[in-house]
Amino acid sequence: MTVFNRNITELQKKIRELAKKKKAVILSHYYQVPEIQDIADFVGDSLELAKRARQSDSDIILLCGVHFMAETAKILNPSKKVLIPSLEAGCSLSESCPPDKFKTFIEKISDRFVMVYINTTAEIKAMSDLVCTSSNALNLIKKVPEDKTLVFAPDKHLGNYLMRQSGRKMIIWEGTCVVHNEFERDLVLSLKREHPSAKIIVHPECSEYLIDIADFVGSTSKLLRYVAEDTALEYIVGTEAGIVHQMRKVAPNKQFYVAPTVATCSACQMCPYMKKNTLENAYETLLYEKNEIIIPEDILQKAYLPLKRMIEWS
Ligand code: 13P
Ligand code: SF4
Repeated sequence: MTVFNRNITELQKKIRELAKKKKAVILSHYYQVPEIQDIADFVGDSLELAKRARQSDSDIILLCGVHFMAETAKILNPSKKVLIPSLEAGCSLSESCPPDKFKTFIEKISDRFVMVYINTTAEIKAMSDLVCTSSNALNLIKKVPEDKTLVFAPDKHLGNYLMRQSGRKMIIWEGTCVVHNEFERDLVLSLKREHPSAKIIVHPECSEYLIDIADFVGSTSKLLRYVAEDTALEYIVGTEAGIVHQMRKVAPNKQFYVAPTVATCSACQMCPYMKKNTLENAYETLLYEKNEIIIPEDILQKAYLPLKRMIEWS
């Protein structure tokens, strides 16, 4: 049910008023549609969202991102009501790693240390020793005991990147992101020929072929900081298109071209899961306090430990 005709400004105002009345904080990831980012109390990468959620003293956390981000908020701050605009906002990485298969996979490895990407379900986190994000993974790896066999899941590209950067051998799960896996090196290089002074900046969920031609590799927040501080005036951006909204804010005089994908559709540069959230369903979620994240207590407690370790080790 849509409550309003699409009057964006009016709806944004209503959501802000409702958030104030209900003592709710609105946290948004950079891949949300611009009109959601613009009403958030905070916009950040997955690590920053986790930290903000953990510190929040609001009664309600409206997590405008994908399901694993909302679950992480609940695990880190379980007394709060955590809501997500659309329960369909999943993640291909998270879905690539079902708990039963992952359990069988890790049980075959003796003396293991299991590090999982934050893009996983609470059940997978509950089976792990440590959670990481793309912004802290390299630092965290240094703290993993040397005598353990390091297992990493679920993103094979991020795992491969971490292994190459850290020199630490890892056994890696074979998951990929439906967006980052699609950026195509030859198309990026031909775009670069059109804009020779553009720098190529990519997220580490991209394939090795893309990472190898990049001028800079980093998490969403690191990419954003890079364009704000760097001297170039043009960038080819190898991550989800939503981040360009913030890039234009921090560097209004610069040009951004989202990296082309194999398929010739601009929607392929957008995360279909992140885009399940709209202003309309954000409003209804907050109004009716629906789409609440509920995690069984035993899973929540077990998943808390590797997340707590991530924060302590960061
Ligand atoms: P960040 O932690 O860099 O925000 O990445 C999250 C994500 O889902 C990237 O696809
Ligand atoms: Fe998951 Fe990829 Fe979407 Fe990020 S962009 S939430 S990794 S599907």
